[in-house]
Amino acid sequence: MTLQTRVERRLDQALSQMEGQPAPQGFAKSLRYSVMPGGARIRPTILLSVAQACGDPNPAAADAAAAALEMIHCASLVHDDLPAFDNADTRRGKPTVHKGFSESIAVLAGDTLIVGAFDTVAQVQDPALAVALTRKLARYTGSPFGICAGQGWESESTVDLHAYHMAKTGALFIAATEMGAIAAGQEAEPWHDLGALIGQAFQVADDLRDALYDEATLGKPVGQDEALDRPNAVASYGVDGAIARLKDILAGAIASIPACPGEAALADMVRRTAQKLTPSDAHRSAVPGE
Ligand code: IPE
Ligand code: MG
Ligand code: MG
Repeated sequence: MTLQTRVERRLDQALSQMEGQPAPQGFAKSLRYSVMPGGARIRPTILLSVAQACGDPNPAAADAAAAALEMIHCASLVHDDLPAFDNADTRRGKPTVHKGFSESIAVLAGDTLIVGAFDTVAQVQDPALAVALTRKLARYTGSPFGICAGQGWESESTVDLHAYHMAKTGALFIAATEMGAIAAGQEAEPWHDLGALIGQAFQVADDLRDALYDEATLGKPVGQDEALDRPNAVASYGVDGAIARLKDILAGAIASIPACPGEAALADMVRRTAQKLTPSDAHRSAVPGE
């Protein structure tokens, strides 16, 4: 079974648990709408790749951790798109949840997916594994290290850019590598830097896509960094400089992979992910002055 199939199956199972009777059926539809069809599923894929690199002795635990992490990510997108945050009309090529349903339903859908994520890791059979996974997910969802703190930086008058990016974008990538290791019965700590570096690379790639791609290609509003005057890698380094930086960070990420049975395959996965993240020459040449 491919990693993608494992993620989709476990997500489907978690959604089925949440959307049944006696839930109000209009609201229940918003849950699946928030999660399916997915985007790149990059975080759960990394989580399962790390578990596999460590031998994947507990695949059910890894699947639960991967689905839970993706549910947190989807919830963060539903809330991020709300008028109180980025006020976005499209996500993954379709209307955002508050546009397709309503604002109150979008708040509830995000809340429900967060609760569902914790319920999913709590279902891991080995109690010690379940607790360890729950605590990691909480650490990288909440505050001070998680995406809630990361989004919180956008309401401060002065921003610590490193802390902002580490929490907003890095946190769920660190959760991916650390939870993948935990699910496989390994220590989390040696896997921290790989997640942090992939997160940094992802942030630079996201800044590039925001500057270079159009809404039809990305399925969400573009040009947001410039419009909202957000600090970003393209403004700081230019397009070619940002691409060079992306490559440097990824080389560091590959070098940081801890010794494990599947080290070479994991390095390949990071390279393939990097390739997907890097804008193609066609997009680069589309930019005036580049
Ligand atoms: C978008 O993440 C949100 C950011 C942290 C920039 P992704 O680009 O992984 O979104 P999907 O899941 O593929 O739609
Ligand atoms: Mg945002
Ligand atoms: Mg946004």
